[in-house]
Amino acid sequence: MKNIKAIIFDAYGTLFDVNSAAEKCKDKIGDKWEGFANYWRTTQLEYTWLRSLMKRHKDFWQVTEDSLDKSMKTYEINTSMRNELLNLYKILSPFKEVPQVLKSLKEKDLKLAILSNGTPSLLKELVKSNNLENIFDDIFSIEEVGVYKPDSKVYDIPIKKYHIQRNEVAFLSANTWDISGGGNYGYNSIWINRNNNIFDNLDYVPKHQIDDLSKLLDII
Ligand code: LAC
Repeated sequence: MKNIKAIIFDAYGTLFDVNSAAEKCKDKIGDKWEGFANYWRTTQLEYTWLRSLMKRHKDFWQVTEDSLDKSMKTYEINTSMRNELLNLYKILSPFKEVPQVLKSLKEKDLKLAILSNGTPSLLKELVKSNNLENIFDDIFSIEEVGVYKPDSKVYDIPIKKYHIQRNEVAFLSANTWDISGGGNYGYNSIWINRNNNIFDNLDYVPKHQIDDLSKLLDII
C-alpha cells in the first residue's frame, strides 16, 4: 500500500476478542456460552446504532451493561454472573497474533492508533491490561463526537488530528459494517476475516482481506 501515513485499528472484535469474557465463564454457563456471547455482541451493536439514530446517546459501557441484561434474560443466565462478566469485559484478551504484530508495526514510521466506540477509560484499561500501552500514538474514542460508528464524524477524528487525507489511512476492522463505514468514508479499509465470513452489500469492497493481523505486515 502506498502513501499510508496512519494505521488505525478498530478495538472490539478486531484487536480484542469480545467473546473471551463469556468463554472464560464457559464452565459455569455451559454449552450455550457462545450463542450467548454472540447475542450479547449483536445486541450491544444494535443499541449503538439505534441510540445514534434516535439521538439518545449513552456511552459504550452503559450500552454494554444494558445489552448484557437483555442477553442474560434471553439466555437464562443466573444474575449472579453479571459482575463477573462485566469485569472480564474490561480486560478482554487480544487475538493471539495481535501483540507481536503491533510491536513489529511500531518500528515503522507510521502513526498507530485505535478508533473505537469504547469510552476513553475503558479503552485505556483494556490496552493497559494487555501490556500494549506503549504501542499507540493515540486512542481515539467516539465519545469525542457523541455518536457511534459508522457516523462519518467518527472517521473524521484521526483525519483532523493528523492533518492527513482519508486515503492516507489504512483502517483495520474485523467488523464488516465498520469496514463499509470507513471505506465509504474514504479510508483504505482492510477487512480481517478470521472466520471465512461473507462481506456486506453496502457499496464498498474492502481494499484487502486478510485472515489475521499478521498478514498486514505483507501489505504495509
Ligand atoms: C469498536 C467496535 C466497533 O471497537 O467494536 O469500535
